[in-house]
Parts: sequence; structure tokens; C-alpha cells
Amino acid sequence: MKEAREGLGDIVAAIKFYLDVEKESGVEECFCACGPKGASAEKAGPSDMESLKHELLQCKECDLHRTRRNVVFGSGNPGARLMFVGEAPGEDEDAQGAPFVGRAGQLLTKIIEAMGLKREDVYIANILKCRPPNNRAPLPAEILACEGNVKRQIDLIKPKVICTLGKSASQTLLRTMTPISALRGKFHTYNGVKVMPTFHPAYLLRNPADKKLVWEDMKKIKKEL
Ligand code: URA
Repeated sequence: MKEAREGLGDIVAAIKFYLDVEKESGVEECFCACGPKGASAEKAGPSDMESLKHELLQCKECDLHRTRRNVVFGSGNPGARLMFVGEAPGEDEDAQGAPFVGRAGQLLTKIIEAMGLKREDVYIANILKCRPPNNRAPLPAEILACEGNVKRQIDLIKPKVICTLGKSASQTLLRTMTPISALRGKFHTYNGVKVMPTFHPAYLLRNPADKKLVWEDMKKIKKEL
């Protein structure tokens, strides 16, 4: 009974999250399109990674295209079994056009290597493909404009496990407002794919004592792979 109530709580939180994001981006009315009809109404995207990349390099769906230096599409093995999803490019990523190449990225590389993998074995992407100015948090309207792109990447890669890095990526993909401290350490699902939320490497740079918790999460991923 308690579990059922918690499950219902998560569903209510997800609907609330979705409506809050819609409202923030100016949507005033909402119509429900349930079942296959609604699902098939979703925008169909390019059927391969190169076409998607080509499309996104020209993207002007939100204002971030005005300030970006590069679109940070994603990098790694498009057939990866493990995919990492972060929040948004920072200054170094914007300059180089590649995800997680700054200080937080170097820590992510160490985490991947500690799992016995190389960066080239996994796929790394972000929810937002363009840098928010001064590294501010992504706006709900920006997330709404861009989240479909990482979802298309997930559909193309079909990873066995997704590791979401930090609050923003985890809450966006799992459609929840539950704090990252409560989400991490347990598998969740996105479209039938196992999702392990964990702390963001940038948070670990400020809170190194929590590295052991991230390692616990990585061990669970390794076991699942
Ligand atoms: N932080 C992120 O979330 N993504 C990056 O690519 C770099 C830093």
C-alpha cells in the first residue's frame, strides 16, 4: 500500500513538473492526447545520428543559439551500452564543441576509467546542446525546446543503461521533482531503459566526500552491464 502511494506520488509529481514547465514557457491551455494517437503525433526525427547532428548544428529553437560558440552534440560510441547524460555545456565544452572536456569532464573520464571502460566505449551527451550564458541553470523553456534531442539520441543508441549526472538531467529524463539525493543509488526507467541517477561531477569537485556514493552507483551500473 505504501509503495502504491509512493508510486502515485511520483506520477502526480511528474504531471505537475510537466505542467509547470509548460506554464513557464507560456502555455496557457493543455489538451490531453492519450494513447497511440497522442504518441504518434510526436515529431518524427532523423533516423540516424549523423542526420540528427547535421540538423542540430543549425538549431535555432531557443535563444541560446545567439550566444553559443559551438553546438555540443555529444560524443562517443553510437552503439554504446552505457550512456551518460549531463545538464548543459560549460565554457570549455562551448569552446571545443565536445561534452565534458573541462574540469568536471576530467573527473567524469576518471570515473569511466575506474569502471574499466574508456570514454570511447560510452556515449556522452547533455540535455541542452548549447551553453547557457555564464553557466546559469537551464530555463524550463530551454529544456522543453531541447530535451527531445537527447531523447532521439537515446532512441538511436538504445543503451542498456543511462547514467544521469546531477539534478537537472535526472529530473528532466525521469519527469520528476524528487531531489537528486533521493533519486541516486536506485535504478529507475526511461522508456524501458534502466536509468541510474548520480551526483554531477561538478558537485563532486565541491563535495569530494560524496565520491564514494557515486562509486556505489557505478558499481551497480557495472553489475547491470
Ligand atoms: N557539465 C555538464 O552538465 N555537461 C558538460 O558537458 C560539462 C559540464
